[in-house]
Amino acid sequence: MHVLVIGGAGYIGSHVVKALLKNNIQVSVYDNLSTGNRINYFPKASYIEEDILDIPQLEKAMSNHVDAVIHLAAKKAVGESMEKPEIYALNNTCGAINILNAMVKYGVKNLIFSSSAAVYGIPEYVPMDEKHPIKPISFYGFTKSDMEKYFAWYDQLKGIKYVSLRYFNAVGYDEDGDVKGLDKNPQNLLPILMETAVGKRNKMFIFGKDYETRDGTCIRDYIHVSDLADAHVKAVNYLQQGGESQLINLGTEVGISVLEMVKRCEELLHRKINFDFAPRRPGDPPVLLASAKKAKDILNWKASQASHIDNIILSTWNVYNLK
Ligand code: UFG
Repeated sequence: MHVLVIGGAGYIGSHVVKALLKNNIQVSVYDNLSTGNRINYFPKASYIEEDILDIPQLEKAMSNHVDAVIHLAAKKAVGESMEKPEIYALNNTCGAINILNAMVKYGVKNLIFSSSAAVYGIPEYVPMDEKHPIKPISFYGFTKSDMEKYFAWYDQLKGIKYVSLRYFNAVGYDEDGDVKGLDKNPQNLLPILMETAVGKRNKMFIFGKDYETRDGTCIRDYIHVSDLADAHVKAVNYLQQGGESQLINLGTEVGISVLEMVKRCEELLHRKINFDFAPRRPGDPPVLLASAKKAKDILNWKASQASHIDNIILSTWNVYNLK
């Protein structure tokens, strides 16, 4: 099987590439290196350094006997998407449409997509299953939910089967140390926490302390990226075996607050994390918590011990503490 991993030099993508190679799957990576990093390259994969907005290059990659596509090339910062929607419209929406059209042109029928819990918006109930209403409150979440609608149409009209994986909060690093690329412009909690712990930042901010949660800070379902990567391998195999299109949550079903994460970092790293409270960040729902039952039922996947908070923190620390 030959899988084209678009965005395979990025943070989640390189973990996915590692998991595919471990399962003896042939991998080509397509990445413009805007956030991806050559340090994440695996000798056994081949790499095409091009952009998804470059249709001729994308088509050339797609024409090379591809059995399935895993698409992870997207802009991913919720806050930024509220300030610069035009960048998200172009990369996330137009880019994904280019991929779909190239798949149609070269008869590639199977697609795994990196979707997000951000499609749900403010939870109407938790844990959130896949039937939860889709009401994104960030432009980022809108681009993901919008693409899921395109996929349904391309399935109906062109027979493209897809598994849209709705990640909750992807965190952690490969435990063998094979992925080392750091976020170049971090906006997410864990990288910012780590940069504060190593002294690269004087202080970090916790956005919002008056949410209706147990300590007033936002609650998230943090899932280790190696667990996410395994789900991609399972999803590719599922489609290759003739599975129907699916929308599937990937989370741990455990919620951790921002303050709890900061405190646990202090305990495990034996360092004081200098923080202040700041106003709420636009586009942030108070709680995101997954029901992962469908992932178990359809893909036989569930989060492993890798996703335990201590392992998330320590595996990330291993990479940040090197610098
Ligand atoms: N946070 C802070 N300070 C920071 C950074 C983050 O308090 O400096 C808080 C946020 O306000 C939020 C929590 O930490 O409450 C987690 O924020 P992240 O930016 O790490 O993650 P998000 O929940 O905003 O979004 C992430 C991914 C999205 C994905 C979403 C789904 O970035 O791509 O998880 O759960 F859609």
